Amino acid sequence: MKNEGIQPTTTMEKIVTLAKRRGFIFPNSEIYGGLNSCWDYGPLGVELKNNVKRAWWKRMVQGREDMVGLDAGILMHPRVWEASGHVEGFTDPLVDCKSCKQRFRADHITGEKCPECGGELTEPRKFNLMFRTHLGPVEEAAATVYLRPETAQGIFVNFLNILNSTRKKIPFGVAQIGKAFRNEITPGNFIFRTREFEQMEIEYFVQPGTDEKIFEDWLEERFNWYVNLGVDPERLRIREHTPDELAHYAKKCCDIEYLFPMGWSELEGIANRTDFDLRRHSESSGVRMDYFHQETGERFFPYVIEPSAGVDRATLCFLLDAYHEEPDKDEIRVVLRFHPELAPIKVTVLPLSRKEPLVAMAREIRSELARHWMPAYDDAKSIGRRYRRQDEIGTPYCVTVDFESLEDQAVTIRDRDSMEQIRVPVAELVPVLREKLGF
Ligand code: GAP
Repeated sequence: MKNEGIQPTTTMEKIVTLAKRRGFIFPNSEIYGGLNSCWDYGPLGVELKNNVKRAWWKRMVQGREDMVGLDAGILMHPRVWEASGHVEGFTDPLVDCKSCKQRFRADHITGEKCPECGGELTEPRKFNLMFRTHLGPVEEAAATVYLRPETAQGIFVNFLNILNSTRKKIPFGVAQIGKAFRNEITPGNFIFRTREFEQMEIEYFVQPGTDEKIFEDWLEERFNWYVNLGVDPERLRIREHTPDELAHYAKKCCDIEYLFPMGWSELEGIANRTDFDLRRHSESSGVRMDYFHQETGERFFPYVIEPSAGVDRATLCFLLDAYHEEPDKDEIRVVLRFHPELAPIKVTVLPLSRKEPLVAMAREIRSELARHWMPAYDDAKSIGRRYRRQDEIGTPYCVTVDFESLEDQAVTIRDRDSMEQIRVPVAELVPVLREKLGF
């Protein structure tokens, strides 16, 4: 069987520790003791996460004639969430322990006793996951609005605007990246499940009847996106939702799962949302949101195929899958084998000494490289230690400036994965790195 015997690359503890120590991800509000399951992206984390989003936008929007982008608001008219079914149906069943007062998702519990203390549990009740807030300064008089629990609705309510302004014909899709909020009952596993997170969503509008084939195409496209960015396909699998798992709007849904340290878990969902959303918004707003097919003269509500990915989950997956420990002499070399497109730093400049005029030359090289890619500069401790530090944050190439460089105007490029070193003239550094990085 596929995936048999495959293991997670490492433990969550090791990734959490490395992420904090090297500046990928910090506990949120740490000086006040932290805020449960909230995290901040540090100097390297913001680069990595931006690269994940950029790689998605590049393949899903820039690279496709049938896609356009959108950036809608987090706050939306409250009627959006009534029409979409979220006010009524976006709930998890919740139980409380009468003894220790802990809360659990009823569908995550097997027995009838509290998994923490064995106490008696309350009857399950519905808990809506949407965060509520108020629009305007006077709380009582102001309208209750929600922080969006998915970015998707911003696309549906703008369907006509997009159609009219771009003159797109189906099949076509709209892509959006942005924050979403869910008051999860049991957040956890680092950035895997949090209450504030980012989504990368596509709503792809198709003619009914073509939906099942296009669903399969998207599933393949999205699976390959992770593989092409370096994720081991053995640690990825596709799992179809059982009928009782399906969201209220979906006819079919498949998850792309990754083998996280806590086991196989959802990375991204691809759903067939049928015409549910456009039809509901059309009925609720009174605005006609059906599509006029010019060739056939028909009017119909398009079906929607929705590949919906989590930015934070994808970032965690790329971090975990890049993680390697390998014996090197008497030590263990920790190396993040990021795809070059995702690596937070593409190239680090290392002067062999802190003396002039070596430093001036190294700094000039750094600023030249900065015109093309995200560089770094490191002059602390031995060169061997510096290479290790770059390996641990996944920098694909180091450029070492030594005393000979002053004479021959050449530098050494060291490769993260093979650890091989080559000498190149400074004048050729940019084209050589471009060839190696692939962009
Ligand atoms: N519009 C469809 C939708 O929102 P979903 O399966 O609920 O579908 C899509 O969410 C993706 O968003 C998930 O596959 C996951 O990557 C991410 N996601 C959902 N809830 C999350 C949470 N609490 N924390 C982090 N990511 C989350």
